[in-house]
Amino acid sequence: MHTQQMAQLSVNHLDFAYPNGQPVFRDLSLHVRPGEFIALLGPSGCGKSTLLNLLSGFHQPSRGSVTVNGAAVTPETPELGYVFQSPQLFPWLNALDNVRFGLRMDGRIGAAAQRERAHHYLAMVGLADAADKLPYQLSGGMQQRVALARTLVMEPTLLLMDEPFAALDAISRNSMNEETLRLWSKLGQTVVFITHDIDEAVFLADRVVVLGAAPAGIQSELRIELPRPRIHRDTRKLARFNDYRNELLDRIAPAAQPA
Ligand SMILES: Nc1ncnc2c1ncn2[C@@H]1O[C@H](COP(=O)(O)OP(=O)(O)OP(=O)(O)O)[C@@H](O)[C@H]1O
Ligand SMILES: [Mg+2]
Repeated sequence: MHTQQMAQLSVNHLDFAYPNGQPVFRDLSLHVRPGEFIALLGPSGCGKSTLLNLLSGFHQPSRGSVTVNGAAVTPETPELGYVFQSPQLFPWLNALDNVRFGLRMDGRIGAAAQRERAHHYLAMVGLADAADKLPYQLSGGMQQRVALARTLVMEPTLLLMDEPFAALDAISRNSMNEETLRLWSKLGQTVVFITHDIDEAVFLADRVVVLGAAPAGIQSELRIELPRPRIHRDTRKLARFNDYRNELLDRIAPAAQPA
């Protein structure tokens, strides 16, 4: 249960358009270092989910490439794990069996070992006592944690997350953010975290990458040099936290010129 080789993600001069659609990306390049946590920030409709589908090989670029450790990405790339905006748990499986599902499909380890590993990851997200619960018996935040455990159990070294906590209330979201950072510091994945929330991006990331309006490329980048470990109560009080968020606000919505 150890992290294998860390994952390096490269996007090279990527163009993409949906069939019959406007171009979504033009000449987008992005390099994510092994173990780096980046937040991709951009307005609704700019192409964040589309980019995630390109990073995971579900969409093919019309030009350019996406590579993981130097190899062209496909949905089966073993390094990859995804967490989506809605948890999408199997409603008829309890929390443990939801987490175990990928291991069962994979079939490389036996049932007892699958259960043990699923338990381990459920405990890691703080749900050791909820193993027998069905999804409808869990709160939204708990369901999202089960979804996170279900992804982590496959031990991905590259984690792609598409606004995974957007549906949660502020308090649950803050605690999920802290949870995400705790697991990341423990497991050492390379993370691409998509969000439209500036505070969330600054709180989590080593580097915030801002996408422009379509056809989007990278509009700007900001390295976040806040100390880790980060916890909301303390990190938000830092003057630099506010400086970063104001800087990003200015970049995303430049101040209107006075008339
Ligand atoms: N399957 C599709 N076919 C055609 N156009 C699409 C398709 N999916 C998305 N688009 C278009 O591509 C653009 C980017 O959409 P995308 O879903 O990637 O945005 P997003 O940044 O994730 O937005 P949000 O923050 O609202 O989730 C939008 O203009 C959208 O209308
Ligand atoms: Mg989206």
